[in-house]
Amino acid sequence: MNYNKKTVMDVDVAGKKILLRCDFNVPQDKKTGAITSDKRIVAALPTIRYLLDQGAAVIACSHLGKPAATFESYAKKQAEKGKTDVTREDWEKSLKKLTLAPVARRLSELLGREVIFAADTVGPDAQAKAAALQPGQIMLLENTRFEKGETKNDPELAKKLADMAELFVSDAFGTVHRAHATTAGVAAYLPAVSGLLVAKELEIMGGALNDPKRPFVAVLGGAKVSDKIGVINNLLEKADTIIIGGGMAYTFAKAQGGSIGNSLCENDKLDYALEMIDKAKRNGVQLLLPTDTVAACEFSAEAEPHVVPTNAIPDNMEGLDIGPETTKVFCDAVRGAGTVVWNGPMGVFEFDTFAKGTRAMAQALADSGAVTIVGGGDSAAAVEQMGFADKITHISTGGGASLEFLEGKELPGVACLLDK
Ligand code: 3PG
Repeated sequence: MNYNKKTVMDVDVAGKKILLRCDFNVPQDKKTGAITSDKRIVAALPTIRYLLDQGAAVIACSHLGKPAATFESYAKKQAEKGKTDVTREDWEKSLKKLTLAPVARRLSELLGREVIFAADTVGPDAQAKAAALQPGQIMLLENTRFEKGETKNDPELAKKLADMAELFVSDAFGTVHRAHATTAGVAAYLPAVSGLLVAKELEIMGGALNDPKRPFVAVLGGAKVSDKIGVINNLLEKADTIIIGGGMAYTFAKAQGGSIGNSLCENDKLDYALEMIDKAKRNGVQLLLPTDTVAACEFSAEAEPHVVPTNAIPDNMEGLDIGPETTKVFCDAVRGAGTVVWNGPMGVFEFDTFAKGTRAMAQALADSGAVTIVGGGDSAAAVEQMGFADKITHISTGGGASLEFLEGKELPGVACLLDK
C-alpha cells in the first residue's frame, strides 16, 4: 500500500474550514468519567496548532467508546448480557457517559484557548457553530458514534459532515483501520490529506516495513497467536529475525511436541504455528522461541516463580514470563539490530514477579541504538510504565491500527487520502 500521502503541509489551509478527524478515544475513570490519560489529545496538538496558526478554522471530530447509536441497538446489546428491562432513560444515561465535553475542556486547557463544543455531531447546533466559525477558531463536534451512520460509513452522514468544511484532515491514526464515515467516507466529498501525527506514523512505520535498517528484528508477544496471525505471516516476508514471547509462545511449544502444563494455548492454531516455523526456514528468517520459562502454580501477583524448560512445564503450572536464558538470547538479538518493531509483552508484566522479561526487553530496545518502534496497546503501556518511553524512536498511538499496519493490510483511513 502507498504511504506517500499529501499532508497539511502540501496544501493551502489558510482561511479554510477544515474537518479534522482526531482519535480522542481516551481512557476514562469508570466512576467519575475523568480522563485518565490525555496522551491522545496531546498527540493531536501539533496538527491543531499548525492549522490554527495558518489561519484555518478547525472543526475537530472523534469517536469515544462504543456507544449504541439507537435505543434498539442499546436494548439488543443489553439483552445479550441478560438485561431485558432497559428503558430509554438508561440508554440516554449511557450516552451521557460518552460525551466529548470533557475532551473539549482538556483540549482547551492544553491549547490555552477556547474550544467551542457542539451538542450534536451534524445536527442544528453543529451546523450553526460550524457556519459561524472564524479563521483561528476551533470547535469540537459531539461523539461521532452517536450518529448511527458513522460505523456504517453512511454516505449521507459523510456528505453532511463534508458540507460543513472545505478540506478533510485525517489525524486519527488509531482509527485508520476503520472504514467509517469520519475516517474514510468523508473523503469522497472533500479533498483529503493527513495531519502531522498520521504523517509521522506512516513515515516511521512505513519506513520500517518497506526499507528497514538491517538487521530488522520483530518482537511479538501477548496472549494469543490468533491476534498476531497476519502480523507473523507478513513479517516473515520482511524481517531478518522474529522473536516470539508472551502467552502465544506456548502454542508454538506445544505444536513442537512440548508439555506446557496449564499455560495458555490455542489448540486450533497448532498447525499454523508449525506452518510459520516452516515458513521461517524457507524464507531464511531466524525465528527465536523461548527455551526457558518462569512458571507458577497460580495466576497471581503473589505466586512463587519457578524457572522451567519451556517444553517441560509441570502439569500443575502455567508459564507467566520468559526465563533468564531466553531473556538473554532475545535481548542480544535486539541489541544487534538496525530496526526493532515490538508488539506485545513477554509475560504478565502487570505482576512484578513476572515483569522481568518485558522489562529487560524494554531496556534492550532503549539501549540498542536501533530505530525502535513500539506498537500501541500493552507493550506501549509497559514501555511507558517502566520509564523507557523517551528512549524509544516511536511509540505508535494506534492499537488495532498499528497491528493492521504491521499485517500489511490496506488501511481505509490512509487509502482515502490524496497521493503525493
Ligand atoms: C482505539 O482505541 O484503538 C481506537 O480509538 C479505535 O477504537 P475502536 O476499536 O473502538 O474502533
